[in-house]
Amino acid sequence: MADRNSPVGVFDSGIGGLTVAREIIRQIPDEPIVYFGDTARLPYGSKSKDTIIRYSRQIIRFLKTQNVKAIVIACNTASAYALETVEKETDVPIIGVVRSGAHMAAQVTRNGRIGVIGTAGTIKSGIYGDTIRQFKPDAEVFGKACPLFVPLVEEGLWHDSVTEEIASRYVSELKGKFIDTLVMGCTHYPLIRGTLRKIMGENVTLVNPAYETAIELKNMLREQGLTCEKTPEEKYQFFVSDQAEEFTSFAKSILPEVVKETKKIAIEEF
Ligand code: DGL
Repeated sequence: MADRNSPVGVFDSGIGGLTVAREIIRQIPDEPIVYFGDTARLPYGSKSKDTIIRYSRQIIRFLKTQNVKAIVIACNTASAYALETVEKETDVPIIGVVRSGAHMAAQVTRNGRIGVIGTAGTIKSGIYGDTIRQFKPDAEVFGKACPLFVPLVEEGLWHDSVTEEIASRYVSELKGKFIDTLVMGCTHYPLIRGTLRKIMGENVTLVNPAYETAIELKNMLREQGLTCEKTPEEKYQFFVSDQAEEFTSFAKSILPEVVKETKKIAIEEF
């Protein structure tokens, strides 16, 4: 049975979820974290719902071996496809990133016209629109899949003109819809926030679901009496299903000082 000083499990298809871990570390720095990145099987964004549910179940079984007290699905695609199923099967509290991002978008929009960018899977699921309308029934939500952003970010082209050109093409359609709010509905997109800001202009609010997810986690831990009181010496642990060294070096660009080493595990065995 997990206790309040056990870690929070955070998982993603790979490195992108580190943007969520970063917000959690900023907002609740005493909480220990076990992070898992499924680097052997990414991307999740182009896979089917059944596959993402199967992968998520295996990862949750692994995280349970680490005695986690709560789980954050940091991946938007896995939150879109698997959260509803796995939360019914899991005996620790589990949250995703979509609800938080949708809630924030519904709160900050002034004209009720909201754009959502994400992977093909997240956009196809329609989950952001459905969830935003739970909070704001008259909202108009326009989705756009941006499959090239993930490889561009992973190539390190965060501030490159190539990224800017592709981003302009992707979001021109959304600009034509007169949105005033844009949800960055994929773990990688906050890393190209500057480019998106430049293209969308100052009048469009950019929503980073990771930010509100960290707040939701903090509140949930408090409400359930799970806030850590005695932080263990090994506060952060990182696991992947492949390419541990590459993960460590990329992770250092997002979370310097935090990621020291990464362990590789055989996720299919869980
Ligand atoms: N982590 C994924 C997401 O937020 C993006 C990367 C992938 O497709 O695996 O949807």
